[in-house]
Amino acid sequence: MGVKWLVAAVVIALGLGACDAGDQGDGKVVYEKVCTTCHGPTGTPDATMVAKLGVRDLRSPELRARITTYLVENQVKHGSKNKLMPAFEGAISDVQIKAVADYVSSKQFLERK
Ligand code: HEC
Repeated sequence: MGVKWLVAAVVIALGLGACDAGDQGDGKVVYEKVCTTCHGPTGTPDATMVAKLGVRDLRSPELRARITTYLVENQVKHGSKNKLMPAFEGAISDVQIKAVADYVSSKQFLERK
């Protein structure tokens, strides 16, 4: 194998790696892939989800008053006590959990429409 091929292989590997990292580290992308099914695109769940599972409104003043990255991270890792929200630890990476927790607890989250 020539040096040129080696360089090409490394460049491709780095390219793919960077792509992955970008995807994994984007809390907004994780939210849209994993959380919207229950919490809705804006964070306010639809009435059916509230009736069926008791899904919480991620935009409610009550939650916004106490929300922290840690609270969301913990909730996503372990799920809810009543298990109606599943634990995502192992299902998505720790980097993704941290990213989505940062995003959901940020003010930027409230700009979702
Ligand atoms: C299968 C449906 C489902 C999915 C998917 C889901 N949740 Fe939940 N979530 C719930 C339910 C149900 C509750 C309310 C649980 C309870 O009453 O304790 C909840 C509650 C929460 C709360 C409120 C915790 C509190 O202290 O009030 C947060 C924050 C949260 N979810 C974040 C997320 C994030 C972020 C994701 C995506 C990674 C996600 N959820 C995915 C069902 C879901």
